[in-house]
Amino acid sequence: MANMKIIKVKDFEELSMEATKIVGGLLKEKPQATLGLATGISPVGLYKNLVKMYQNKEISFKDVKTYNLDEYCELPKSHPESYYSFMYRNLFSHVDIKDENVHIPSSEGSDLQKNCDDYNNLLHKAEIDLQILGIGGNGHIGFNEPGTPFNQETFVVKLTDRTRNDNKVFFNSLDEVPQYAITMGIDNIMKAKKIVMLIAGKSKAQAVKRLLSGEITTDFPASILHKHPDVVVIFDEEAAELVNDKY
Ligand code: F6R
Repeated sequence: MANMKIIKVKDFEELSMEATKIVGGLLKEKPQATLGLATGISPVGLYKNLVKMYQNKEISFKDVKTYNLDEYCELPKSHPESYYSFMYRNLFSHVDIKDENVHIPSSEGSDLQKNCDDYNNLLHKAEIDLQILGIGGNGHIGFNEPGTPFNQETFVVKLTDRTRNDNKVFFNSLDEVPQYAITMGIDNIMKAKKIVMLIAGKSKAQAVKRLLSGEITTDFPASILHKHPDVVVIFDEEAAELVNDKY
């Protein structure tokens, strides 16, 4: 775990502040940075804080490029729970980012393999300075579910029942949760220069324990992060419930 920096904080607010220091700091230092972005609950506080920093004129997104990790299939971009809608609602609509600098995998049209290949080609040309990650209760990163090979690139993934159940809160019923998604592969994620992983809440306690065990296995995709040279993992007290004696 030599390269994994651990920051333990009290709660979600502190977690968001720590992440903001890192991302906001990078944007001050390198206004033309390329960010890899996640959706879900974990980065919402970070995005709020970045919007505040933009409003206070501390940072600008006018030269920032972004690449999102994933997008649901079976939902149009315009659906409120598409990750496209999520990103505009939580960040992009509130800052001066240029639409042409925003990249989110597209699940529209009839040739999803082509969409994957196109996104993968974009990722090959990009150099992500900082990748934000959350973690699934089952250890997924992006939507790379357990069993995904570590050399996987952008692909269409069948979501596990666990992931669909975890994400049900955003939909009216389990039936409405998409079955498939397009996601950056583990290999794409690992190419980022720096990775910041945000983990909050009791439901992630088991995942934190397994991550910090240090065992690297495709059964727990996030474990590959131990092989990355620059990873910061920020977790709150609830997420640390099962490792509190060590951290
Ligand atoms: C989201 C993503 C997922 C989430 C993970 C945690 O773009 O790729 O890996 O980061 O499912 O989700 P939350 O933050 O909602 O607990």
